[in-house]
This record gives sequence, C-alpha cells and structure tokens, in this order.
Amino acid sequence: MKTIYNFSAGPAVLPKEVLKEAQIELQNYSDSGMSVMEMSHRSKVFETILNEAKQDLRDIANIPDNYEILFIQGGASLQFSMVPMNLIKNGKADYLITGQFSKKAYEEAQLFLDAKIIASSKDSNFTTIPNVENLEIRPDADYVYLCENNTIYGTKFKDLPNTNGIPLVADVSSCFLSEPIDVSKYGLLFAGAQKNIGPSGVCVVIIRKDLIQETTFNPTPTLLKYKTYADHDSMYNTPPTFTIYMCGKVFKWIKKQGGLEVLQQRNRDKAKLLYDAIEESTLFKCPVDVNYRSIMNVPFITGNDELDTQFIKEAKAVGIENIKGHRSVGGMRASIYNAMPIDGIQALINLMKDFEERKGHPYD
Ligand SMILES: Cc1ncc(COP(=O)(O)O)c(C=O)c1O
Repeated sequence: MKTIYNFSAGPAVLPKEVLKEAQIELQNYSDSGMSVMEMSHRSKVFETILNEAKQDLRDIANIPDNYEILFIQGGASLQFSMVPMNLIKNGKADYLITGQFSKKAYEEAQLFLDAKIIASSKDSNFTTIPNVENLEIRPDADYVYLCENNTIYGTKFKDLPNTNGIPLVADVSSCFLSEPIDVSKYGLLFAGAQKNIGPSGVCVVIIRKDLIQETTFNPTPTLLKYKTYADHDSMYNTPPTFTIYMCGKVFKWIKKQGGLEVLQQRNRDKAKLLYDAIEESTLFKCPVDVNYRSIMNVPFITGNDELDTQFIKEAKAVGIENIKGHRSVGGMRASIYNAMPIDGIQALINLMKDFEERKGHPYD
C-alpha cells in the first residue's frame, strides 16, 4: 500500500498501532466472541472499557478529583449550546472571538443569555490573538469563553486570562492532549474527539464538579444537562461505544509514548521543522503572527491561488492528503496532530522545496 500522510484537520490521522490493534480485535474483543460495536453498553466488558478510558485520561492529563470527565455526543458544536444552558446563573457571559468556532459559540450563546464580546482578533483577519491582560470581564459574568487553538487560522493562546475566579470555559478541540495541561485553570474545557483523541462521535467535557448544577434554564432537555451525564457515568442512554473504545486505545497509546511531556516535545519539534521551512522559503508564507502560532494547525500560502491549487494537486499525487486550507480561508493547512509522524512533515517539506525550485517566486 502506498504511504499516505493525512494532514486533515479532523477527522484526522490516528496512531497506526491503535488502528492495527482495533483491527485485530474487531470481531472478537477480549475473548468475548463479539465486536465492541455489537456489545451492550451495560455489559461488564464495556463498563471496563469506559472506566479504563476515563482513568487513563485522568492520568495523562492530570485531571484533579474535583473534575468530572463526561463523554457527550453532538460534537464540539453542541457544547456551544450546552455551556450557556448549564452555566447560566446571572444570565451574562463574556466571549473572546478568535475565529469561526468562537464566533459560532458566541452566536449560539446569545440564544440563552447576554453574551458580550470582550476581545476579538477579527481586525487582523484572525491571524493573531488578543492581549488577555486587561480584559474588561464583567464581575457578574457567569463564565469567560475562549477557543484555545484556532483550527482554521492556526493561532493559539499562549497565556490564559486571569478571570478573577469567574469560570474559564475553553474549546480545546484542536490542542487537547498535544501538551501538558493545567486543568485547574479552567471551569470547563471540551474537545471534539476527532483530532487528538479518537474518531468523531464524541466530545470530551471536563467540568469542575461545583459547576454541575441543576440548570436554571427551563426547560433544559434531559440530555443537554451536564448533571445527567455526571449522574449516570455518561451512560444515561446508549453512548457511542465504539468511539469511546477507540479513544481509550489512544489514551493508552499516549501513556505508552511517555505521556504529554514527550508528545509536547515531539509536537514542538515537528512544528519547528515545518515553520522553519516556510520561513526559509521564498514562495510559501505563513500569515500567522509568530507569537501565536499553533503547533497543531499550520496554514501557509503562496499568495497565488493557481499555484496553491497546483501544489495541493501535486501533494495528493505523492500521498500528501488533505492539505487544502479551510474553504473559508483558502491556501494550504497542515494539521500535524500527535499521530502525524515526522516522516510526514519531511515529505511535505521535500515537496515544498521541490515545488519552489520548479516554480521559483512568481513575483521576482
Ligand atoms: C476548535 C474547534 N471547535 C469546534 C469544532 C466543531 O466540532 P464538531 O464538528 O465536532 O462539532 C471544531 C471542528 O473542527 C474545531 O476545530
């Protein structure tokens, strides 16, 4: 089989070892005689899968005991509604807008409460991150919301705001498990699985226990309450069993790699290799402010749409898949999550160099 390097932003590349293990176990999991896909979520076997997944995640991300781990369907986008529906007290929340996903979250929050934009990087076309130092956070805001890593624009918050005790809510979909994390800084964080966690179908929500309350937003459907998931161990109804099983395998893989410190170093090395190649290039450019560059999503452009299209086509021909930038920004984007091997980055850089040699700089 031809080697493929999948630079998709999500669903994204998974560790080969994990896929192989799942393949071996597909029809007969742990001598049960059946696939995880076929098994009751109330069975002992699945209960163990769920409990181990939670414990392994708690271990690798160092999640304190006063935080609950929930597995919720509906993707990261459902959290745009669940967060305001569940955390509402005074009916106010402050939002930092750094791209499409925080904008969507802000717009959704307006359905439920008085959502206010307190910082935005819109003026820079989302190529930077606003200063988080003197934010005018309303003292009676129920929470402060941000999207920590902006998958489309390739920016990342390098510091978190001091919210003076107001719960910080973060969408960490595209940076979760790429580096160590201090969970105690957040009231709630969530990540759609389909980047560094596993296949799509579940969102991991980590919430401080005191924030799990009977929501005052009435009526809130049972399945949209964090309390329902917390009270029933994420199994009030049938959870996405196979997805959770795969996530659990990825957590074990992370442990085997040596944990998040090891992955962080690896991710930094991979990102540096690519950013350095872009900086050295006279053809490719990265539009993102150097101080806020993501180590997970790397957008780059030639500045010429035709050349971009040609590059993407040539990339596909040599097994570099899904390098096209998000449809709203164009150009290219390399999503280089945990499971992207360094060989993939090297293959991309080799093609960039070769392409540049052949095309030169169109504006010289
Ligand atoms: C940062 C971020 N938030 C939210 C989403 C939306 O996720 P989902 O499609 O799981 O709803 C994405 C999807 O790529 C994302 O990158």
